[in-house]
Amino acid sequence: LSRDSFPEGFVFGTAASAYQVEGMASKEGRGPSIWDVFVKVPGNIVKNATGEVSVDQYHRYKEDVDLMHKLNFDAYRFSISWSRIFPNGKGKVNWKGVAYYNRLINSMLEKGITPYANLYHYDLPLALQEKYGGLLGDQVVKDFADYADFCFKTFGDRVKNWMTFNEPRVVAALGFDNGINPPNRCSKPFGNCTAGNSATEPYIAAHNLILSHAEAAKRYREKYQPKQKGRIGILLDFVWYEPLTRGKADNYAAQRARDFHVGWFLHPLVYGEYPRTMQEIVGERLPKFSKSDVKTVKNSFDFIGINQYTSYYMYDPHQPKPNVTGYQQDWNVGFAYERTKDPIGRRAYSQWLYEVPWGMYKAVTYIKERYGNPNVILAENGMDDPGNVTFPDALYDRERVNYYRSYLKELKRAMDDGANVTGYFAWSLLDNFEWLLGYSSRFGIVYVDFKTLKRYPKMSAYWFKQMLERKKH
Ligand code: GCO
Repeated sequence: LSRDSFPEGFVFGTAASAYQVEGMASKEGRGPSIWDVFVKVPGNIVKNATGEVSVDQYHRYKEDVDLMHKLNFDAYRFSISWSRIFPNGKGKVNWKGVAYYNRLINSMLEKGITPYANLYHYDLPLALQEKYGGLLGDQVVKDFADYADFCFKTFGDRVKNWMTFNEPRVVAALGFDNGINPPNRCSKPFGNCTAGNSATEPYIAAHNLILSHAEAAKRYREKYQPKQKGRIGILLDFVWYEPLTRGKADNYAAQRARDFHVGWFLHPLVYGEYPRTMQEIVGERLPKFSKSDVKTVKNSFDFIGINQYTSYYMYDPHQPKPNVTGYQQDWNVGFAYERTKDPIGRRAYSQWLYEVPWGMYKAVTYIKERYGNPNVILAENGMDDPGNVTFPDALYDRERVNYYRSYLKELKRAMDDGANVTGYFAWSLLDNFEWLLGYSSRFGIVYVDFKTLKRYPKMSAYWFKQMLERKKH
């Protein structure tokens, strides 16, 4: 497998997010996001870790960009911290934050690394949560569009690839339903589990995410795209769902899972309405798109980013329904089975159970067939170290090399069958802050000593370097 196995111009990059790599979280004028208060509550994060320092890309960005270049990558998918630009979400600009992103972007251009800028990766400014109810209030649509507008104006002369939201499904389902991410009422300091209204809140949050995305895309296309000639998209996570048997009930269960996962957002963006299964099951609780909403939302993207770690689920609707609420209950299709293992009732069916590469082929082909073969970038793919790997053994990550090789082969197979994929981003360049898992998880192709912050390329980094070698023409 080499770069030449992919079409001319196919973009290879790595992906990361502001709160997971920048550090300087409460310094240089950055305002708090909902994650900054969440990580400070003992027990919320493994070992009570925070992103206060993380891997300090705020200061080490030149070294990291140089490393991307040395490893022959073409692009870097980073995210902009909304509250580093607008500490209160709107109004006063933090010019030190603007200066940081200018330094980062300029250092990328100097090294021939194309910037892919994502505007939102879970880090809603706390002020907007507290004053306007965040994603449950409709004020967020204008506030997000204004923030996006500022970024297009400020960085759009150099950034030609924009994304609005990372994994809105995770934001809506994990932030407003089963309570593991902020600002859920089930997560401290935002409240307690009894107050949750999970039957409706995930759907309100998702609706506002879709409207916010569409409003930002509209601003970009009307005010900036004609001159800056860039493009705008959104990042959706998707795992593959396979029915347990060929039976009707199982097929319906698997289709329902796909609809509640990627269809929740992709259906409105492509067809201007929520998936039929979701409309039937959620009914009156599902917010409605007005006629003018449909006009703004439908086709409000130039590409779709797909975050794909591919777990391979077998669904058996005959299994007892786990006692979950709201969105999880609506979606619930019985317990998942691993391909070759017994029912795993003990684990929630949304956990990543089992990495099976051909799910990548199925997921990308499904999007090609069901959603009109949109321009797709595979915007995240990668794996965590198997448990308790220590230095220097962690550098010999053969398993990760096999993971990347086999997933890229499956992606290529989907492209050979006509899927319109134009880029691939490995998650992630560096080991970094893995949300609830803190620093107990290592997704990097480059090892980071979290004490010294020294970077050590792993075997997988050198594998990418040789794979991405550009043949001297
Ligand atoms: C995301 C992911 C990343 C994770 C990565 C590994 O939302 O894109 O949560 O932020 O770090 O998926 O789990």
